[in-house]
Parts: sequence; C-alpha cells; structure tokens
Amino acid sequence: MGRVAVTGAAGFIGSHLSERLLADGFEVTGIDSFTDYYSPERKREHLAKAIGHERFTLVEEDINTCDLAGLFAGCECVFHLAAQAGVRRSWGAEFNHYVESNILATQRILEALRELDSVKLVYSSSSSVYGETRNLPMKEEHPLRPISPYGATKLSAERLCDLYHVNFGVRYSALRYFTVYGPRQRPDMAFSRFIMGALNSDPLEIYGDGKQTRDFTFVSDAVEANMQAFRYEGEQRVFNIGGGSRVSILDVLGIMKRELGRNLDIRFVDRAKGDVTDTWADTTAARRELGFRTSVSLEEGLKAQIEWYRSRMRKTGGDTVGSG
Ligand SMILES: NC(=O)c1ccc[n+]([C@@H]2O[C@H](COP(=O)([O-])OP(=O)(O)OC[C@H]3O[C@@H](n4cnc5c(N)ncnc54)[C@H](O)[C@@H]3O)[C@@H](O)[C@H]2O)c1
Repeated sequence: MGRVAVTGAAGFIGSHLSERLLADGFEVTGIDSFTDYYSPERKREHLAKAIGHERFTLVEEDINTCDLAGLFAGCECVFHLAAQAGVRRSWGAEFNHYVESNILATQRILEALRELDSVKLVYSSSSSVYGETRNLPMKEEHPLRPISPYGATKLSAERLCDLYHVNFGVRYSALRYFTVYGPRQRPDMAFSRFIMGALNSDPLEIYGDGKQTRDFTFVSDAVEANMQAFRYEGEQRVFNIGGGSRVSILDVLGIMKRELGRNLDIRFVDRAKGDVTDTWADTTAARRELGFRTSVSLEEGLKAQIEWYRSRMRKTGGDTVGSG
C-alpha cells in the first residue's frame, strides 16, 4: 500500500477518513493546524486512534505556511478536507479565515501539486455552492449561485482545482457533500446541537420554521466516496455526494425524540442568513462513475451519533455534554 496525505485530519470527516486509510493499509500523513473554530482538545480526541498507529504521522501545521511539496512528495493522493467550515459565521470580519483556509490554502496545495504530476487530489466541496433553488434534486450542471460567503469560498476552490487541471494537468475529483452527520460531527451542526441540548435538558433552537429540508449523508458514506474518487481514473470533475435521505428538520426531531426517549423543548428562532431552504442531491453521476452507494439509513446513523454522545458522557463521568 502507498502513501497518502489528509488535510484537516483532526476534523470530523478527516479523522474518519484517516482511520479508514490506515485500516486499508496506507501510510497516512495527517495535516491539521487545530484551529479554534471548535475545541482543539476535541480534535485530539478524534485522532486518538490514528495517533497510536505506526503508519500515521501528524503534521500540526497551517497549510498556508508548511512545506507542502515536501509533505506530498511520494504520495499517491492528497485528500483535501481542511477548511474553515460553517455558513453562519462566514459573514463580517470572520470572512478572512474563510478566504485563508478555503481559497488561499487550496491554491497553495494546487501549486505544490503542479510539480508532482502523479499525485491525485480529492477535494471536499459542499452543496452550499448551489445556493437557493427550486430546481430539485440538485445536479452538478445546474447553475451555481451560493448565498453564503462560505459557499462562495468553496466554489472558488472548486474552480481553482479545475483551472489547475486545465493549465497544468493536476488530476482531481471534487466531492460536493450534502450535510454530513454521525459520530464526531462538528458541535456547531444541527444534529450535534440538538443531541447535546436534549441530553443536557436544554431548549433546542430551530432556525426558521423547521420545514427546511436537507439531504443527510452518514460520515462513512462520505468516507467511502473519498476512497472511490481516489481510485477513479475518468474525467476530472465534481460529484454530488448525498445520503438519499432528504427530510425536514421537524422530521429529524421526531426521530430524535423516539431515539432519545424524551420530550424535546423546541424554540423557533429567526432563520440565519446564508442558510438555504432545501438541499437534495442528484447522485446519478457518482453512482454511475464512482460506484457510490449509501449504506446507512438516517435512523441507524442518528442512533450511532446519539450513542457517541452518550459514550462521551459516560467517559467524562458527568451528566452533561460540553459543547467542545
Ligand atoms: N460536515 C459537513 O456536513 C460538510 C458539508 C459540506 C462540506 N464539508 C467540507 O468537508 C470538509 C471537512 O469538514 P468537517 O465538517 O470535517 O470540518 P472540521 O472543522 O471538523 O474539519 C476541518 C479541519 O481543518 C483544519 N483546518 C482548518 N484550516 C486549516 C489550515 N489552514 N491548515 C491546516 N488545517 C486547517 C481544522 O483544524 C479542522 O480540524 C471541509 O472542507 C468542509 O468544507 C463538510
């Protein structure tokens, strides 16, 4: 088995992908600067299994300053997941972080790959590039009109991948994930906030009327899509990666209430600027070209995420779950 690099290795999806690559026999270089968007201690927890592995090397550095060419030399693939995530915080002065970690960092990676012809790039993009649309399900060739600064930075990076391919032959696949969830999900994301709130008996804030829909994707399915994109030798292009379980937030809360076995104290608050009403992935291309299939239902996936929070609670010995 060969060598690969994972940027954002300590994050939610990156840590699962790193474990999968190690299990498949790869030598993995994980790059992460442990930003404080959410608790760096929690990110160390994510990496606990990988760190103890003899084939895992952690490079605790910022992509914008480290020696990428040196780190990528000899790799078969760079899985680029590092980013400043989150739609709601991408306005105002915070936008700087989004430009640095999403656009400038991706351009630096592409510059390094320009000199290393054999290395493939698998870039983690987002359904946020589509913006508000009634044209559902979303297809890769639909018009792109992001409505959040975050979405605009993810689209810029996607476009950079393509133009480095056109000009310098960099090989890439970009994966537009639709709301990924499961154990280790970022604490700012809806399922995490709801589970933490419910377990702590706190009120749950729902943005808008709760009728907005999302196509939820279990993390192991997103990881599998990365593995398939790595092996894919066809056209350099983007793929939608969705779980095929498009449901409303109110429906999710219904399932959660059943799984948690307790009533939820729900408060409706104003919808956040930048949040779209609906997402729904047309995954025809990923199924046809990559062999992508989803394997985890929303009920099973939610159960796994709830169990992860419960086991963290047991480990910390406390009866509350911190937000970190
Ligand atoms: N989680 C989702 O539902 C979702 C949906 C669409 C797209 N994505 C994309 O998937 C990727 C992973 O998302 P996630 O939810 O795991 O996020 P995450 O915040 O858990 O992980 C991102 C990691 O990148 C690291 N990082 C950020 N900037 C860095 C830099 N300049 N140098 C080095 N490391 C840096 C952070 O410390 C963090 O550990 C991101 O690119 C995100 O935009 C996620």
